[in-house]
Amino acid sequence: MSRARLLRELGLGPVWRLREAAGAAADLPPQAVPVAHEAQQADPMVNEPAQAEAPASRAAAAPDGDRANAIAAMGWDELRAAVSGCRACGLCQQRKQAVLGVGDVEADWLFVGEGPGAEEDERGEPFVGQAGKLLDAMLAAIDLKRGDDVYIANTVKCRPPGNRTPEPEETAACWPFLARQIALLQPRLIIALGRPAAQTLLQAEVKIGAARGRVFQHQGIPLIVTYHPAYLLRNLPDKAKAWEDLCFMRATMQGL
Ligand code: URA
Repeated sequence: MSRARLLRELGLGPVWRLREAAGAAADLPPQAVPVAHEAQQADPMVNEPAQAEAPASRAAAAPDGDRANAIAAMGWDELRAAVSGCRACGLCQQRKQAVLGVGDVEADWLFVGEGPGAEEDERGEPFVGQAGKLLDAMLAAIDLKRGDDVYIANTVKCRPPGNRTPEPEETAACWPFLARQIALLQPRLIIALGRPAAQTLLQAEVKIGAARGRVFQHQGIPLIVTYHPAYLLRNLPDKAKAWEDLCFMRATMQGL
């Protein structure tokens, strides 16, 4: 599919072309020019500076240390089995199956969403419903493809009933799994799709509109925040901003 067609499918216009490596940042709108990893300082975009270590709020709701330590030592196969059998929070009660993640385990890019929806719960793969189709189109717009240098995961691995936002206890219970995925993957760039993922990874209140176009850090790994594809499906005008964010991601990766 041509880029022009992809962008049409994304509902985007005018067509902005990415320049190759050196010129990429110059091609971006001013607010999308990369800012060096600034979330280590006090940041008006978020209520607290992003922290590398698990903060008190997470620790308070954290699962017991033995479980977290065991997960932190797992390889992919053990992790998959542990996620499948997990009963650490109430989300296990209504799931059809837990959804670990999908993609290239040597990927440079890690996209983190919120949690599985009905289709993901059915199929056991993240982002396979409508939001997933948009995510695939977004990836294709910057020459990326699911499974090819890209890994996709969620903040929680089991479907929140009715697709509600995961509760803090649920996110906390699931955090060791995402943390282990990040440790195993060692991605070069993390993309937080939407507020729950951004807040979980940055451990701060995040307003997407204010935080986008900047490079934060999660444990030394650059992290960019953008809109969740499901939000974009409901807020079509913001797709243009998502395109800016895609350009920014691409330029940021090229500059790493
Ligand atoms: N939304 C998400 O955040 N993740 C999915 O896997 C599907 C929809």
